[in-house]
Amino acid sequence: MLLTDEEKRILNGAEGPGKQKAMEMLYALGVTFDAERLIPIKRAHVALSGQEGDTYWCELLVEGGATCAVPPTTNPYWDTDYLTRFFDVTKEELDLANRTGDAYRKIGAILTYHCAPGVCSNVPFFGEHIAFSESSATPYVNGALGARSNRESSISALAAAVIGKTPYYGYHIDENRYGDLLIEVDADLNECYDWGILGHCVGDIAGSLNPVLVFKNKVNPSQEDFLYFSAEAATSGAVAMFHMVGITPEAPTLEAAFGGKKIPAPEAIITTKTLKDREAKLTEAKGDINLVMLGCPHYTYNQLLDVARLFSGRKVSHNTSFWILAESGAVELAERSHLRQQLELLGVRMVGNTCIDEPCWKSFEGHLGLTDSPKCAYYRERRGQPFAIRRLSECVEAAIKGRID
Ligand code: F3S
Repeated sequence: MLLTDEEKRILNGAEGPGKQKAMEMLYALGVTFDAERLIPIKRAHVALSGQEGDTYWCELLVEGGATCAVPPTTNPYWDTDYLTRFFDVTKEELDLANRTGDAYRKIGAILTYHCAPGVCSNVPFFGEHIAFSESSATPYVNGALGARSNRESSISALAAAVIGKTPYYGYHIDENRYGDLLIEVDADLNECYDWGILGHCVGDIAGSLNPVLVFKNKVNPSQEDFLYFSAEAATSGAVAMFHMVGITPEAPTLEAAFGGKKIPAPEAIITTKTLKDREAKLTEAKGDINLVMLGCPHYTYNQLLDVARLFSGRKVSHNTSFWILAESGAVELAERSHLRQQLELLGVRMVGNTCIDEPCWKSFEGHLGLTDSPKCAYYRERRGQPFAIRRLSECVEAAIKGRID
């Protein structure tokens, strides 16, 4: 990979060990993927996880004097002030959370703690070269918005933010953004949950290839629909780029989606039955629940309104907790409009800045939880809590009864 004189200086340590480490990371990545050079980025998003390895990397760069040339937004970890009122955590868990916040503050990140930056908080324009980590955010910004990002790790995204550049390979290049396989969709898609299940099917079929979807019926996905689709396509598969013909910006036509290549025969036809079968496969568990957890990815204000409408004044069962993880701006709006207070009277709590995959939730482990997000179920199950998956209206009804029938 060719470096400019300025980039070579940084690689040789002329601007301190922090920037040198970041440049070493980008150089190694570029060489690995045969990138010809680095290109400037306009934005970055770092999937800081509050886990030791990510925090160590950020501290290493900070101790070496690095700050960000392009301040990145950040993923959530957990709201230590608010959640320690409800849950016990160890001193080590709290220390790690505080260390994480300190390190990213010092390096100059924008502490949004939000995992859907493409929806708000860090929204790229069409064609912008960016470095986004967070598996659900990358397909969203590439497919739905037409920005250009590889599937960055939190490590490489932070290195890119420090240097302000990323290696020119993968989804930055036109040829790698075109469709690889065709999927026909002839299914009822009524709410974001359905789009999530569709994404889960598509991820399974596409793996890490670029699926092109054609819809038999006219569809008009919302930002929440795109977000659910993206999150699940990156959970069952590793989709980083997708096209929806006549809908997403790089697919005005089927021909454009495939970049003029021969259009392949459909790899699959996804029907309403396919979605129902997938749902049945994902949601076998039934019985008493101790937790309903929504907001993976983070809920928007509109989704908070949906929850209030569905409860319609009824209360959460005394043996069930109901938590919604939301973008902190949405939580603030809910506070101002008294939506938060109304929901709390029903037993529904919301929290910003927080991921489902954090130690603060461990007191629920060992019992059955319920969510509208297969991604949430996937991560929580790895932590020892089985989760059932249902659409939002069914989550609300189950919370009122304290069980899933
Ligand atoms: Fe967000 Fe954590 Fe889910 S980052 S998408 S709440 S796994």
